[in-house]
Amino acid sequence: MNRIRISPSLLAADFTCLDRELARMERAGADMLHLDVMDGVFVPNISFGLPVIASIRRATSLPFDLHLMIADPLRYVPAFAEAGADMITFHLESNSDPAETIAAIHAAGRQAGLSVRPGTPVEALFPFLDTLDLALIMSVEPGFGGQSFLSDTPDRIRALRGRAPGLPINVDGGINAKTAALCRDAGADILVSGSFLFGAEDAAAAVASLRQPIPR
Ligand code: DX5
Ligand code: ZN
Repeated sequence: MNRIRISPSLLAADFTCLDRELARMERAGADMLHLDVMDGVFVPNISFGLPVIASIRRATSLPFDLHLMIADPLRYVPAFAEAGADMITFHLESNSDPAETIAAIHAAGRQAGLSVRPGTPVEALFPFLDTLDLALIMSVEPGFGGQSFLSDTPDRIRALRGRAPGLPINVDGGINAKTAALCRDAGADILVSGSFLFGAEDAAAAVASLRQPIPR
């Protein structure tokens, strides 16, 4: 089994002190940083964009796991690559052509990820699996942090895992120590967590609890 990688979602950070928040997650053992970009069109919320990402790129060496919840990801791939994204994940339900967008991400020298909303069958990812570096399964409706994990997610992870034994599977939304175990059992590799990790008093213990069951 692969080592589980942890990707804290910056959306839940204290935005008045991002450098401290980044250092806290780095010290806690995070493997990368999840950056949720929302355009108010693809999802009914607006988060942060290029200038913020370019600035925090200078504040940490953690890889950037970008999650684009925007209507036209293809148009912005070069700009986000330039801003410092290492992995660029976009949505199958966006307006951009998936194959073209994956090719553009690779042309920019970055890893390509494709995501599906909870209502989209994971089978819709199957035609693209050979060209992807990761797949992201949403375990909440995209748009907001702090929502509850959707209970059919482990079955969706299993269905994708069965078809793509070697592909890193990223799960995003409502991840805490309990739901993380369900995702690990189902075959997930990367766990995104916002409110659980940034809200934790002991971030290192919270990161560890996502990786493995708490010993009794
Ligand atoms: C939701 C985002 C998630 C979110 C996760 O649209 O894609 O990354 O920030 O936050 P929590 O862990 O609080 O559900
Ligand atoms: Zn996300």
